[in-house]
Amino acid sequence: MQSLLLNFLKVTESAAIAAIPWVGSGDENAADGAATNEMRKTLNKMKMNGTVVIGEGEIDEAPMLYIGERLGIGGNHEVDIAVDPIEGTTPTVNGQGNAITVIAAAKKGTLLHAPDMYMKKIAVGPKAKGKVHLDAPIEENIRVVAEATGKKVQDIHILIQDRPRHKEYINRIRQTGAKVHLFNEGDVIYSAATCIEGLGIDMFFGIGGAPEGVLGAVAVRCLGGEMQAKLLPRNDEERNRCREMGITDVDSVLTHEQLVATDDCAFVATGITDNLLVKGIETEDANYVTHSILINGLEKQLRYVKSTYPILANV
Ligand code: FBP
Repeated sequence: MQSLLLNFLKVTESAAIAAIPWVGSGDENAADGAATNEMRKTLNKMKMNGTVVIGEGEIDEAPMLYIGERLGIGGNHEVDIAVDPIEGTTPTVNGQGNAITVIAAAKKGTLLHAPDMYMKKIAVGPKAKGKVHLDAPIEENIRVVAEATGKKVQDIHILIQDRPRHKEYINRIRQTGAKVHLFNEGDVIYSAATCIEGLGIDMFFGIGGAPEGVLGAVAVRCLGGEMQAKLLPRNDEERNRCREMGITDVDSVLTHEQLVATDDCAFVATGITDNLLVKGIETEDANYVTHSILINGLEKQLRYVKSTYPILANV
């Protein structure tokens, strides 16, 4: 994956730039369409045999970057690709923070093929790896994370998406004394944040999109932490969808290894608007300035990359 990293970076940078005219526009379809189109164009220039495993949906509902779509001009690299051309479409078109473009990639056959439904997730940093269990009571997970990190429970900081479905968890977390940090959109970046020293985040927890779960799991694996998840099908149709995608025991906790089964993986994200890890796109003189993170699973190395693109040029 290492040799493809810079190419993936160019893909997320150019997709983020393509979304810029739609920031604040209110038009979610146009924003998504512009970023997806650009991402597909640049992915198709890469020397690889890529297959989309997390994408914009099925072929009949999403004409571009659909699950199963083949990408690239061929070559020796057989790659599973997970994309979200805009993670945070609503904040993008509302001109708010927390929107990124993101790609995760791994050796063929190693990323979970996750259907587009809700998923319960937990992520922790390297010190608490191997200690938590998604099915354990949240109070117990907080206790073991405190022990693993050498902190008091009152000093444990937990990220959770600000949704009514999390109300009970938020109350239970606060009753332990641990601290809750609510965010509005974009759980991929927030799961990765658990593994970045200095941000002071000990756990990410809650229910969000399954595709975002796999993307987050790659970032967390690349950074040496742990993520677990459980699909939450709401009806028989969604349950069958899981089985069709190869998930036989739908009610079981998916281990990190089941979400992403290799260290030979990569995660690249570019800010469209400002978020916890990177700034959104800025304009300086006649240039766009992009801010990205790039993580390589074999080296466990996080890089922050700033790039400049002339505004009128085709990127
Ligand atoms: P998009 O990538 O579709 O814009 O999703 C943004 C997001 O905040 C995800 O990060 C999260 O997993 C999901 O929405 C939560 O869904 P909901 O908005 O239905 O609570």
